[in-house]
Amino acid sequence: MRKVYLDHNATTPVHPEVAAAVQPFLGDLFGNPSSIHWAGRDVRKAVEDARAEIAAFYGCRPLEVVFTSSGTEADNLAVKGVAYRPGNAGKHIVTSQVEHPAIMNTCRFLETQGFRVTYVPVNRYGIVEPDAVRAAIETDTILISVMAANNETGCLMPIVEIGRIAREAGIPMHTDAVQSTGKVPISWETLPVDLLAFSGHKINGIKGAGGLLVRRGVELAAVLHGGHQERGRRGGTENVVGIAAMGKAFSLLRQHMDEEVALVRRLRDAFEGALFSRIPELVLNGHPTERLPNTVNLSFRYVEGEALLLNLDMLGIACSSGSACTSGSLEASPILLAMGADPTDAQGALRFSLGRGNTDDDVAYAVDAVERVVNKLRAMSPLYHPREAKAR
Ligand SMILES: Cc1ncc(COP(=O)(O)O)c(C=O)c1O
Repeated sequence: MRKVYLDHNATTPVHPEVAAAVQPFLGDLFGNPSSIHWAGRDVRKAVEDARAEIAAFYGCRPLEVVFTSSGTEADNLAVKGVAYRPGNAGKHIVTSQVEHPAIMNTCRFLETQGFRVTYVPVNRYGIVEPDAVRAAIETDTILISVMAANNETGCLMPIVEIGRIAREAGIPMHTDAVQSTGKVPISWETLPVDLLAFSGHKINGIKGAGGLLVRRGVELAAVLHGGHQERGRRGGTENVVGIAAMGKAFSLLRQHMDEEVALVRRLRDAFEGALFSRIPELVLNGHPTERLPNTVNLSFRYVEGEALLLNLDMLGIACSSGSACTSGSLEASPILLAMGADPTDAQGALRFSLGRGNTDDDVAYAVDAVERVVNKLRAMSPLYHPREAKAR
């Protein structure tokens, strides 16, 4: 069966050059990077080379890169690290209603620990408006955390404007850049944010490695207590394979990101355009242009998203309904509901996220398959009457 992977926001295939680059760390280069003898030294060098690659990609200093086990841990470190830092008197956090569970559930946990959180709503495109963030600030706000791009809709948030508001108010700002990294340019030098989370497996690296950029001078409490690794900010022997993989993945992005993004954008636009021209009663969830170049989230009216997903899977097409972390449940996506989507539309939503390796043939195959499956499912729906639907 032909297989077409259109779920790159969930995870990406490991780049062959990344897989090749980590081979030595599964063999001779086994040392602990904290050991000062020969076995540790080469491995320490690999960790620091990766840190330098990541710093070069974002335009930050190597010492501003803190390795973690994932994007989730990086988000936890940012939010809890600020909440629990020494001398912190404030108890209020501002975030948005459309954050990934890595932020959302960290904030909910902090609410059980005496913190207060304002979850700023989004506009109908799913975008956080800077004025809403400004209005949410209280006298004891200690952190503003707004994602750079949403994982479900791909919507790009105005983090520069929000960061400026945070700066004016003297409040640290975190952004979850797990989805935007590698898809839109990010320049740490000009970005008014203090903390930024990323993840290796979203950029053709390996699962189980991520990181947090921490601007120089920003103090954070450790979340994982242990050894002195990462200058005391994150105890635990480093995931050398995952970190070396990220180093290679970031180096490849530095070389090829522009052309890869241009290709993916062309394929996504062709996919989206063909679906809209061939399938009636289709709704785009998210902003038409302020969006990641690889993502399209669509509601197919009169069709259950989950049924569509399973039928497409049978034809070899991998996509997603809601975020990967909530798939398996039939609940409508909270992200789409927060945008004010009709609950039935939210239930019929699917996310297609393209990436490196997708081709024109993949797009043609997927468009045919989606059209076929939607027609089949609508034909079984007692609610779907094509003539009336077209006339609406
Ligand atoms: C926006 C966003 N933040 C955080 C994460 C979590 O990253 P990880 O899978 O590395 O824990 C994801 C993963 O889907 C994400 O999309």
